[in-house]
Amino acid sequence: MTQPVRVAFVGTGGIAGHHLNQLQALNEASQEPVVDVVAVCDLDADRAKQVAEECGALGVFSDHRTLLDQQADQLDALYVCVPPFAHADVEILAASAGLHLFVEKPVVLELEQGVQIMEAIETAGIMSSVGYTLRYRHPWRTARDLLHARSVAMISSDRWGGMPADEGSWWRQVDKSGGQLHEQTTHQVDCMRWIAGNVEQVFARYGHQVAGDIPSMTVPDSQVVVLEFAGGAVGYVSTSCILRAGGGQNHMQVLLEDVRVDVGRDLVIQPEGALPVPDAYDGDGIDAAFVRAVATGDRSHILCDYEEGLRTAAVSIAANRSADSGQPERCWNV
Ligand SMILES: NC(=O)c1ccc[n+]([C@@H]2O[C@H](COP(=O)([O-])OP(=O)(O)OC[C@H]3O[C@@H](n4cnc5c(N)ncnc54)[C@H](O)[C@@H]3O)[C@@H](O)[C@H]2O)c1
Repeated sequence: MTQPVRVAFVGTGGIAGHHLNQLQALNEASQEPVVDVVAVCDLDADRAKQVAEECGALGVFSDHRTLLDQQADQLDALYVCVPPFAHADVEILAASAGLHLFVEKPVVLELEQGVQIMEAIETAGIMSSVGYTLRYRHPWRTARDLLHARSVAMISSDRWGGMPADEGSWWRQVDKSGGQLHEQTTHQVDCMRWIAGNVEQVFARYGHQVAGDIPSMTVPDSQVVVLEFAGGAVGYVSTSCILRAGGGQNHMQVLLEDVRVDVGRDLVIQPEGALPVPDAYDGDGIDAAFVRAVATGDRSHILCDYEEGLRTAAVSIAANRSADSGQPERCWNV
């Protein structure tokens, strides 16, 4: 019998609940348990306790250092599901304890911290996965399979919607979330990079036209960024969180020579027949892929490791710099 992968969670809020459900579904779909949630940790001790009861974790902590001191030797991997401003030394301590890491996007607020974490992960030789979940879903994954080896002329994304958070939430505070582009629309930026390659330079303009009247909100309400890709493609991303009453969209457009590919609810190629339509991706979701990688030691199941995730975060970090400086800003590309 294969031993289940032993995991713990730091941060037991909204996204942790989603991953826990996915892990439970993996166990239910298998004849033997494939994953065991050993411990959970949240600054909010009541929340940690409640989540532990729901998922059957025996270890309950409100400080990640205590969790790692006491239980690292009983773990294979750690899910880090804290907001962008709160990563602190979680990943560095877990990596040096030899735990594989699943880190939620965006991996950090500040590039320097991300580089330190990336180096700790490299030194420890552990596996890492970042929560860019679109990479594991049709039509985004299908689009990548179709397009990444082709010459992209232009690529753009528009993500317009409401706010995922209430008054007082960290999400509304730019020094905690980094703004909607960094926190949420990073998914679209990641797919654009995955298809068209690294981003060399960005030029950003942000609007606060409406945000000033919304309580506790310092993030811009609308953001537009021009992207210059290292491979020569150009593109833009636009994002807005002011459509609280509906009317939003989440769409990516890719232009090749004489071909337009739209990625939204589905993948649409125009003119019809201009490219062979690939099979819709139907493989592992992000949690299944991570658990499989840890169980087998085969990193190839992971589609976005920490360094890749940091390169994506670096695009919105550069965009935030550009919005402040009023100048184009180069992205981090080592
Ligand atoms: N991949 C996705 O599709 C997706 C979806 C939603 C959120 N996220 C990301 O997940 C992260 C968390 O978002 P959320 O919606 O779960 O937020 P949340 O506010 O619902 O939960 C975050 C939790 O982390 C806890 N926390 C903060 N610092 C901590 C620390 N040092 N130790 C222990 N617990 C700590 C908070 O108390 C809170 O319970 C964000 O970076 C967000 O962008 C990803």
